[in-house]
Amino acid sequence: KDNQLLDNHGRPMTYLRLAVTDRCNLRCSYCMPAEGIVYMPERELLTWAEMSRVVRVMHGMGINKVRITGGEPFVRNGLMDFLTEISALEGLEICLTSNGVLIGDYIDQLKALGIRSVNLSLDALDRDRFKQITRRDDYEIVFQNLLRLVAEGFEVKINAVVMKGQNEQDILALAALTKDLPVSVRYIEEMPFNGSGLVEGTLFWNHERILNELKTVYPLLRPILMQGGETANRYEIPGHLGDVGIIAAFTRTFCGTCNRVRLTAKGQVKTCLYDDGVFDLKAYIRKGVTDEELRQVFLELYAKRPLDGFEAENNRKGVINESMTTIGG
Ligand code: GTP
Ligand code: 5AD
Ligand code: SF4
Repeated sequence: KDNQLLDNHGRPMTYLRLAVTDRCNLRCSYCMPAEGIVYMPERELLTWAEMSRVVRVMHGMGINKVRITGGEPFVRNGLMDFLTEISALEGLEICLTSNGVLIGDYIDQLKALGIRSVNLSLDALDRDRFKQITRRDDYEIVFQNLLRLVAEGFEVKINAVVMKGQNEQDILALAALTKDLPVSVRYIEEMPFNGSGLVEGTLFWNHERILNELKTVYPLLRPILMQGGETANRYEIPGHLGDVGIIAAFTRTFCGTCNRVRLTAKGQVKTCLYDDGVFDLKAYIRKGVTDEELRQVFLELYAKRPLDGFEAENNRKGVINESMTTIGG
């Protein structure tokens, strides 16, 4: 298509990640300090109408998939109406990333809107370890909602950030879960977006170590061909209904085919997860711009996009001190 947004490296931008709130009902240690972060007042967030507009404009620029993130999307009032509105855009796949605590009440509605895929954060398969990591006692409800989503036919991916001394036992426990459940378990390298600055020291659970751990029990892992724009290197386990995957989010091995546009909860455009927010779209929208001016902004931003997450990190003005809850992952 001739309206397709491309970056300066020739990569088509087909995927929008939209953080609809910075609030969350959990306090995961890899994302926030125990006391939480200072949340933005409502007026600092994009309104649902502003977000609908951006989605519509970007849809016209070749975006065919939007992932709703947060914070936790279900803590902001009005989410379902927003999803209903954007679900009218033709050929636009809508996906959600959620912590799974509140999603239970909306499963039927999500299905009715044609939403088929949900990524659930679940770092441990044990109530105590879940509580240790998330600082909330919500393991049972999340696990029940996981089972319900699967039973209702959703494509479910489980996100587990692997952390030394916290959920190492869960690497194999989560892999065992894929025997009878048709889910994709993705082990994620921890990234320095926990809100309290860059943690010094090296990452222990990198993709290589995670893979070796899996191979101790599953020596016959079979790689699944990676799709362009995908973050996970996935593997089939013979005899399992589901599969396992590793997201080298810190090592950044998948930037070559990156197709992502990000919009943070406060309306910053990020051309890379590791940049420091390249454009204040909210302020620009509130000046009263036309759709054509909005389109122009995206063309300009993507004409000077870093090649990969390392270049983006090097170009930052300050050190990393964001919380994932404001970025949306
Ligand atoms: P799909 O491929 O659409 O299923 O999405 P995803 O796996 O990218 O999304 P999800 O929200 O489930 O995020 C899973 C993990 O991947 C999180 O830790 C994200 O922060 C990380 N992630 C997502 N996109 C990128 C990216 O572009 N770069 C890096 N480094 N990490 C990413
Ligand atoms: N490092 C890696 N992944 C993270 N996520 C949140 N914070 C981090 C971090 N510091 C993941 C969660 C969530 C997804 C959107 O981002 O697993 O599912
Ligand atoms: Fe894309 Fe940046 Fe993530 Fe690499 S680190 S995949 S360039 S967003």
